[in-house]
Amino acid sequence: MTKHARTFAIACIFTCLSTSFVFADKPGNPAAVTSQDGKYADKDGNPTYKVDKDGKVDFYSYIGFVRYSANCLQCHGPDGLGSTYAPSLVDALKSIDYGTFLATVAGGKKDVSASQQLVMPSLGENKNVMCYIDAIYIYLRGRSDGAIGRGRPAAHESKPAAFTTAEDSCMG
Ligand code: HEC
Repeated sequence: MTKHARTFAIACIFTCLSTSFVFADKPGNPAAVTSQDGKYADKDGNPTYKVDKDGKVDFYSYIGFVRYSANCLQCHGPDGLGSTYAPSLVDALKSIDYGTFLATVAGGKKDVSASQQLVMPSLGENKNVMCYIDAIYIYLRGRSDGAIGRGRPAAHESKPAAFTTAEDSCMG
């Protein structure tokens, strides 16, 4: 097993418990077609956001905003918009799918050809990131599709009991 595959496998212990995902080039249609305990999935079974007509978001989108802001914002800028230091994830998520997103966050990425050194750290062993990686993905997917605006979502669904259970067992 390569180091990369091992890191991804570790990440998978945290994230692949309830979700089966497929690998594809594009993230696909984001419409939520199923839900389990307040967590929504698209037709391929990948995690997705849900925003109602009043702008209220699902709980995962909300917690994703919080966790993004704590762990990714310092490089990727407020609301996923990018900085001089790291690319916009609002743009990136238009062309990378869930599997690629997970692998990149867990294993890191280094652009050696860039005139400026660009290094995405490998975060696969950081529980503050990996225990919430689906939520971060869901939030960024909503940002990337223009369904979730800038800043803290004003209203969100209540916290599902299943979220607390999963969080407790993941964070240990
Ligand atoms: C220390 C700074 C830093 C932190 C913290 C960081 N990133 Fe990155 N990230 C980068 C840089 C720099 C790149 C560009 C790497 C490259 O182009 O090779 C990148 C690239 C990425 C990419 C790939 C984008 C693409 O176009 O393929 C994803 C996805 C990503 N980061 C997600 C995240 C998430 C989610 C978090 C928080 C959990 C995070 N990053 C935290 C610096 C960071």
